[in-house]
Amino acid sequence: MSFFSYKDNILHAENVSLATLATTVKTPFYCYAASAIKQAFQDYTNAFNGTNALVCYAMKANSNPSIIKLLAQQGAGADVVSEGELRLALQCDILPEKIVFAGVGKTKQEIAFALTSNILQLNVESAEELESINAVAATLNLTARVALRVNPDVDAKTHAKITTGLSENKFGIAWDSIPDILRLSKTLPHIAVEGIAVHIGSQLTSLTPFEQAFTKVVTLVKELIADGYPLKRLDLGGGFGIAYNEEILPPLAEFGAMVKRVTQELPLQLIFEPGRYLVGKAGVLVTSVIYVKQTKNKAFAVVDAGMNDFMRTALYEAEHRLLPLHQSHHTTQQYDVVGPVCESTDVFNRNIQLPTLTEGDVIVMLDTGAYGTVLGSAYNMRLPAAEILVEGDKHAIIKRRPDYQELQRLYQDAPWLT
Ligand code: LLP
Repeated sequence: MSFFSYKDNILHAENVSLATLATTVKTPFYCYAASAIKQAFQDYTNAFNGTNALVCYAMKANSNPSIIKLLAQQGAGADVVSEGELRLALQCDILPEKIVFAGVGKTKQEIAFALTSNILQLNVESAEELESINAVAATLNLTARVALRVNPDVDAKTHAKITTGLSENKFGIAWDSIPDILRLSKTLPHIAVEGIAVHIGSQLTSLTPFEQAFTKVVTLVKELIADGYPLKRLDLGGGFGIAYNEEILPPLAEFGAMVKRVTQELPLQLIFEPGRYLVGKAGVLVTSVIYVKQTKNKAFAVVDAGMNDFMRTALYEAEHRLLPLHQSHHTTQQYDVVGPVCESTDVFNRNIQLPTLTEGDVIVMLDTGAYGTVLGSAYNMRLPAAEILVEGDKHAIIKRRPDYQELQRLYQDAPWLT
């Protein structure tokens, strides 16, 4: 079910007209449907009914505090990858015992903050990091609960830039180094290895790589339990994809059934770290046409959102569908929809059919709730887009667009230049 649909020929987010929003809020802006996020969370958790599962929202997908609070209220934990995300998770009322901290480069300061916050676990990616955590925990006189994030060397069959589970990727502990790191952990008095974690990539559209990786990891976990390791948790990461275009995704229930089959009889809590699935389909980017530039060979619709607002196309050749704000059955025309940023890669769609566009027309880019605003920047000294949350017929601005003074506030002149 989509929470974005036409009513009286005008695209709505839930019951709120995007046309009305576009007259009061300057485009470009992101608009999120709260009910879509709630529904996605519900669907995701339902898939694991009957298991002892904790769903930790991967905040990197969209770290707007209102979205985090919304998910916290649904019972979500958080998967964080920096002190900034951890602070935000705590501020948004996510309980420390529902927070896992991932990432290959946690600094000592971040480790200390995580340990004193008493979060559920740090997912460790190397022997070096394990030693660092032990040293920090010693100074704090604490024992650090950790999970070893292993790299199963399984191809997620997704875009190369979002693949993390191959031995050539920087992520996770190499499979053949696991015995060494386990031996090391036994010599570190401030480390308690309580879990194993795996995450092989993002936007997976098939269950096969998940199953390969999970099977490999479950075999490992069983061996470790047999060897006397007191494991409590198995973190199976995120990565479940969404349909941006024609992709056919397996139903979540099948994912859940596969996980149950592969992990059955394991006396462990399961952790999941979904990001995209929870918020991806819940967001749109609303943008206006600045010019329609007609050349001999093609028409460019130059819109006011640029790659600084939405990077997925420039970074991963992602294709996001576009809809006109006003549903129209009039003639369509072929366009390249491009942003105003001075980069050739600032192109959203090539050769797509849209109702004939003129200056000021609003178009809506779909499925931009995940990895949209968070990858944004102020490149070209452009003001980042505002964000709006809708629920039913309510709406609220949940991130304002800064003004130019705010954008410049962090800069200061080198004294010899003034
Ligand atoms: N857990 C770990 C350890 C991760 O590295 C990630 C994503 C997730 C969970 C959440 O994955 P998800 O459920 O969202 O697929 N910017 C890229 C995606 C980068 C994903 C990074 N890690 C994109 O726009 O496609």
